[in-house]
Amino acid sequence: MASLFPALRFGGDYNPEQWPREVWDEDVALMRGAGVTTATVGVFSWALLEPRDGEFDFEWLDDILDRLHEGGIRVILATATASPPAWLVRAHPEMLPVDVDGITLGFGSRQSYSPSSAAYREHAVRLVERIAERYGAHPALEAWHINNEYGCHVARSYDAESADAFRAWLEKRYGTIEELNRAWGTAFWSQHYGRFDEIDVPRTMPTFGNPTQLLDFERFSSDALLGLYLAELEVLRRVTPDVPITTNFMGFFAEVDYWKWAQHVDFVTDDSYPDPADPDSYVLAAATRDLMRSLRGGQPWLLMEQAPSAVNWRADNSAKAPGAHRAHSLQAIGRGSDGVLHFQWRQSQAGAEKFHSAMVPHAGPDSRVHREIQALGAELAGMQGVIGEEVSASVGIVFSWDSLWANRQHATPSSIDYLEHVLDWYRPFLDRGVATDFVGVDSDLSTYRILVVASLVSAPDEFLDRLEAWVAAGGTLVVGHQSGILDQDLHARLGGYLGALRGALGVRVEEFAPAGGRNVPLTGELDGHGQGWQEFVLVDSAEVVARFGDGLATGHPALTRRDHGDGVGWYLATRPDAELAARLVSRVLEETGVEALIETPTPGVEAVERGAIRFVINHGDIPRTVLVAGEELTLDAHGASLRPRR
Ligand code: GAL
Repeated sequence: MASLFPALRFGGDYNPEQWPREVWDEDVALMRGAGVTTATVGVFSWALLEPRDGEFDFEWLDDILDRLHEGGIRVILATATASPPAWLVRAHPEMLPVDVDGITLGFGSRQSYSPSSAAYREHAVRLVERIAERYGAHPALEAWHINNEYGCHVARSYDAESADAFRAWLEKRYGTIEELNRAWGTAFWSQHYGRFDEIDVPRTMPTFGNPTQLLDFERFSSDALLGLYLAELEVLRRVTPDVPITTNFMGFFAEVDYWKWAQHVDFVTDDSYPDPADPDSYVLAAATRDLMRSLRGGQPWLLMEQAPSAVNWRADNSAKAPGAHRAHSLQAIGRGSDGVLHFQWRQSQAGAEKFHSAMVPHAGPDSRVHREIQALGAELAGMQGVIGEEVSASVGIVFSWDSLWANRQHATPSSIDYLEHVLDWYRPFLDRGVATDFVGVDSDLSTYRILVVASLVSAPDEFLDRLEAWVAAGGTLVVGHQSGILDQDLHARLGGYLGALRGALGVRVEEFAPAGGRNVPLTGELDGHGQGWQEFVLVDSAEVVARFGDGLATGHPALTRRDHGDGVGWYLATRPDAELAARLVSRVLEETGVEALIETPTPGVEAVERGAIRFVINHGDIPRTVLVAGEELTLDAHGASLRPRR
C-alpha cells in the first residue's frame, strides 16, 4: 500500500495567531531545525478569519502559509469550524448545546454548537467554501483537516433542533411508527407512540429509559456529527477534488462510531494522550494504534496529536520521562502511522492550555523537551523501509460501538466497561508480540486465523451467522461471556443466549450468575480465575475444558471447546483474569500455529513488525532484557530497539 506522503510526517498543530509575526520567523527556522515536515494550521481560527458575519480576513493566514511554504514546511489546513465565534452564538443563541438535564452550555470555551444546529452548519459550510477556494491550490497544502475532534466536548445535545432531527432520523430508519414501536418494544411501560412527533430525545427521566430509544439516540448523535462532517466534506470534494481529507479521531472514543466515519476520510488520523504516570497506558495506546490501522482495512494512518510531555487536563499532569515520548512515537509508527504530529508546536502563553506541553515549551528551544523533539525529527527523517507499509495481523478482536453503547446502559445484568473487557483479550496478544487488528461487525473476516469476541452483548444476526460460517471454514473463534445476548434492537435472544454462535460453540447460555465482584476459580485442563461473573452453560456438543470451582455455578462448565467444520469454537463463561486470558491465548496460538515474537511476556515490553523493521519497545522505567524471535535484546528504560526484520 502506498503512503499519501513522500516521507514520514513530523510536526504538529501550529497556532500562529496566538503570536506576533516576529515569532513566526523564529517558528519556521526552529521547525526546519527540528525536522518538521508538517504543520496543522487554523484549527481554532474562525473568529479571526471571519471577524464579522460574512466579512473575511485571510491576510494573516496567507502570510503564514507563504512563510511555511518558503521554509519547506507542508500544511494540513484546518477548516477552522471547531470553535464558532461569539458573534455567531450571539446572533443564534439557539445553536448552543443543551445537556441531558436541559442546561444550556454557554459560550467561552470551545465547541459551542449543537450538532443539529442549522445556523452553525450554514455558517460553517460558507467558511469552508471560502477557505477551500482561497487555499485549494496553495503549494503548501498537503491535506484538509475538517473541524477538530468531533464530539470531544459536545457529542449529545438535547436542544429543540436535535429533537426534530432525532425524529426525522427515526422516521428514516423505521419508516412507520408501528415498526418503531416493535423495535423499541413500547408495549412495555405504556410507551406506545401514535406518531413520530410524540417522540422526544431521552432527557433525564424518572427512571430507566427505553433501551432502544437510548441506543438509537447514541446512533443518531454519532450520525448527526457525521452529517456535519459530510457537509464540509461535500464542499471540499467539490472545490478541491484532489486534496486528501481527514478529521482527527480520538481512539476508542465512546461517543461516535468510527467504523462508520472511517469510510468517509481519505486517511485516518488520531489524537492520543496516554497517561505518563500509568505504567500500563502503553497497552491502550497500542490497541488504539491497531484500531486506527484497522478502521480502513490496514491502510496507514497518521498520529495527528500527542503531547510532547505533560497535558494540562488531568488531576495530575505527569511529565514524560526521558525517552518515553520517543517510545510512544515509535509505537505509533510500528503500528501503522506514517508520521508523528503533536499538539502543539509552541506552548501557548495565554488561554486554557498554557500548561499543556508543546514542541517549543515556555522555556524555549534550549530545553529537554525540544532537544528530544529535534532528535525524534532526525530519527524519523532517516527511517527507511516503513512508510506506506502494512502491518500484517492474523488475529482480529471484535469491537462494536453498538455493544459499547448497549453495555453502558443501566438495568443490565451487571455494569460492564466494554473497552476493558475487550482489552482483557488484547493484552495477552500484545504481551506475546502477536499483531492484532480490530474488527467491526461489517469487516471482512477472511484474512484472520483467530478471532476474539468479548462482551458483544448486541449484534446483528447477520454478523453472528458470518462468524459461524468463518469457523466452519477453518477459523478459531474465542467468545467471551455476555456475548450474543441481544439483537440489534436490544431484544433478548430466546431459547438460551448466543444466537447463531451456538452452532460454532456447541453451547447455550441458560442463566447468568454474577459473582458480586469475587474471583471464581476454574478447575480442569486449563485452570485460572474468572472475575466477578458466572453463567450456567448448557452443552449441546462441546468438550468441557474447565468447570467453575466455586460460587453458584460450581461444577458447571466454564470453558468449552468445539471442533466445528474445519475450525474451532471456544466459549468462556466468565471474565478472565490476566493469567487465565494469557493461558487461553497461548493455547490458541499453539493450536493454530500463529507466530508470537515474544515467548515470555515482560511487563512494559512490546514487539511489532512493519515493513523492514521490527520495533521492540520498553515502556517501563527499568531496563529489560528480552528474547524476541530468538534474539536477545537489552533495552534501556523507555528504550527502543529497531531491528531489521528477518
Ligand atoms: C485535543 C485537542 C487539542 C488540544 C489537546 C490538548 O483534544 O484536539 O486542540 O486541546 O487535546 O491535549
